[in-house]
Amino acid sequence: MKIDFHSHILPGIDDGSRSVEESVELLDMMAADGVDIVCATPHFYMHEISIEKFIKRRNEAYATLKEHLRPEHPKILLGAEVLYNHALLRCEEIKQLCLQGTDYLLWEMPYTEITSAIINDTDELAHTDDLKIMVAHIERYLNFTSYSSLAELMSLDVIGQLNAKSFTSFSTRRACKKLIGDGFVYILGTDYHRPTSGHALLSAAEEVIAKKFNPKMIDRIAHNGEKILANEPIHKLNSL
Ligand SMILES: [Fe+2]
Repeated sequence: MKIDFHSHILPGIDDGSRSVEESVELLDMMAADGVDIVCATPHFYMHEISIEKFIKRRNEAYATLKEHLRPEHPKILLGAEVLYNHALLRCEEIKQLCLQGTDYLLWEMPYTEITSAIINDTDELAHTDDLKIMVAHIERYLNFTSYSSLAELMSLDVIGQLNAKSFTSFSTRRACKKLIGDGFVYILGTDYHRPTSGHALLSAAEEVIAKKFNPKMIDRIAHNGEKILANEPIHKLNSL
């Protein structure tokens, strides 16, 4: 099963799709790419909106889009890309932000150095209730933090997601290779925002993985994705 774990396809809720038309265009692209399931993960910023209001807005955006969906489109699962915020550790409603039907939370780091406070908070969250943490596009933080800090974060009981686009250029591909080699990566996403936003579809990553990495990784990505949707735990042995 081909699953996109990270996208901004819902209309008018964040800096992603601006309209139903753009959302449908993105879904057409994903359908042509053979995507079975796409996780709609609009940005959640705790300093801007309450969880209750966010869920309401997200569900409304989905309801608007739903009328325009066609059978060939990937199935949409609702979730959120939750920006790190210390206050979320004491927030009982956090589970409402998990990917629909699961205890998996897509967790975004701030674009700063990854400090020990952030690492400790993430560790605490990963041991809260049944929460399971998926760290969003882990390769991006290397623009802001040292590899050792990122490695410390990713050594926790968390799983990492890479963006498909990062496989398509030489320098970011090298970072992907190292992160995969160190056992931090489990799943992929496109992080697609708008049809013109220049992201890459999942097949672009799969092509590079098959040719330059190891084709068996594609089966692992599918296997891990299915486990997540079944809300089963992912073990460190399941890294790519
Ligand atoms: Fe995103």
